[in-house]
Amino acid sequence: MKQVSNMANTSNGSLATLLILFTISAAIHTGAAQFPVQSQNLIADNISVVEGETAIISCRVKNNDDSVIQLLNPNRQTIYFRDVRPLKDARFQLVNFSDNELRVSLSNVSLSDEGRYVCQLYSDPPQEAYADITVLIPPGNPIIESREDIVREGNETEITCTSMGSKPAAKIRWMKGNKELLGKSKVETTYDRMFTVTSWLRFTVMREDDGVPVVCIVDHPAVKDFQTQKYLEVQYKPEVTIKVELPQGLIREGESLELTCQAKGKPQPHQVNWVKVDDDVPSHAVISGSDLYIGNLNKSYNGTYRCVASNSVGETYADYILYVRDALTTTPKPTTTTTTTATTSPPDITQDAAPSTEAAAHGWYLSLLLLPAQHAS
Ligand SMILES: *[C@@H]1O[C@H](CO)[C@@H](O)[C@H](O)[C@H]1NC(C)=O
Ligand SMILES: *[C@@H]1O[C@H](CO)[C@@H](O)[C@H](O)[C@H]1NC(C)=O
Ligand SMILES: *[C@@H]1O[C@H](CO)[C@@H](O)[C@H](O)[C@H]1NC(C)=O
Ligand SMILES: *[C@@H]1O[C@H](CO)[C@@H](O)[C@H](O)[C@H]1NC(C)=O
Ligand SMILES: *[C@@H]1O[C@H](CO)[C@@H](O)[C@H](O)[C@H]1NC(C)=O
Ligand SMILES: *[C@@H]1O[C@H](CO)[C@@H](O)[C@H](O)[C@H]1NC(C)=O
Repeated sequence: MKQVSNMANTSNGSLATLLILFTISAAIHTGAAQFPVQSQNLIADNISVVEGETAIISCRVKNNDDSVIQLLNPNRQTIYFRDVRPLKDARFQLVNFSDNELRVSLSNVSLSDEGRYVCQLYSDPPQEAYADITVLIPPGNPIIESREDIVREGNETEITCTSMGSKPAAKIRWMKGNKELLGKSKVETTYDRMFTVTSWLRFTVMREDDGVPVVCIVDHPAVKDFQTQKYLEVQYKPEVTIKVELPQGLIREGESLELTCQAKGKPQPHQVNWVKVDDDVPSHAVISGSDLYIGNLNKSYNGTYRCVASNSVGETYADYILYVRDALTTTPKPTTTTTTTATTSPPDITQDAAPSTEAAAHGWYLSLLLLPAQHAS
């Protein structure tokens, strides 16, 4: 009975020891090293550092009872034992040494310095904490290229942006003006295990995009505000408007008509043409540049006058409808009803307006007759 109970005790005791050992080794393995039973506490932090810059490695101890701290490199060679540096590499320098901290700087960090640095505390049991150094390598200047220099409106364009040789891989974002657009990205690994990211942006170009910058933004922990841009150049069909220079108001027989055609496009249309729809322009009409002048109007000139502008993208026209009314010498037909109808409903175009209603009808006629119709062919 006694032996059995002794054996049970022994096995219990060794099981407990095993458990403690397992827990300690687990704590050391995870790098957490925060075993609640231990009064001393060793802490280290992971470090990200840009290549060529300085990393600070800090081993900190809470409640140290004079135990020795040392710092090992990833090959487990001692860098610092207390404040003494056995390792020859002079890039390691002591920043601070006390009972509670061993802080070491590593200057001119290179990719080969990456790895798991080990802080060791000669306590009972000994403790370890890990500081993983990650070296960041900034990408080269982003390169932006577009498939074509000049795009036609309605056509799709493709812009490519490349960020080369970084670690980790960069992320590429796109902006068109102040609007964010989505591109398609591909990440490649280069021979020296760096990352090259290429992003493609495709979109249909509008005339409003002319002169708008497309910006490629590179996000990477080693760089700030890294971007490049390209201005869009968009060709578009002319926009045509007709301006009435003469006369002001209703058009009556014997008066003159002068219209100016305004056309804007890219490339700029160098010439505009005046035609009359389904008819010839009156023989005495004068066309000079973008102006159309017809003197001594009579009703037979009624009709649609069209200004046509074209460039390499296409052709656009605007129409002006001419209605020539009787000359004022004709005695107007006085009516009483037109006074009320003229303001509320469209006046009868074929009927000559009475002088009393003319002012009221005027605004309506102007908007009906002078508004050029925009057409695109
Ligand atoms: C440090 O980095 C490693 C991976 O390199 C990770 O497993 C660990 O959890 C990190 N430690 C801390 C304290 O963030
Ligand atoms: C060194 O560490 C001690 C204790 O943490 C602190 O009081 C002191 O200011 C530190 N010295 C430097 C130079 O950082
Ligand atoms: C930094 O290290 C690189 C090699 O990794 C070396 O070529 C360069 O001269 C060093 N720069 C300084 C300032 O020590
Ligand atoms: C894009 O524009 C070119 C002329 O620059 C034209 O030949 C082509 O058909 C257009 N493509 C599309 C899809 O509209
Ligand atoms: C109007 O002009 C046309 C052509 O210029 C002419 O043949 C016609 O007689 C004119 N009519 C009036 C009423 O003046
Ligand atoms: C011209 O328009 C006027 C209305 O403003 C109309 O009275 C006249 O009959 C029209 N003449 C022709 C030839 O269409």
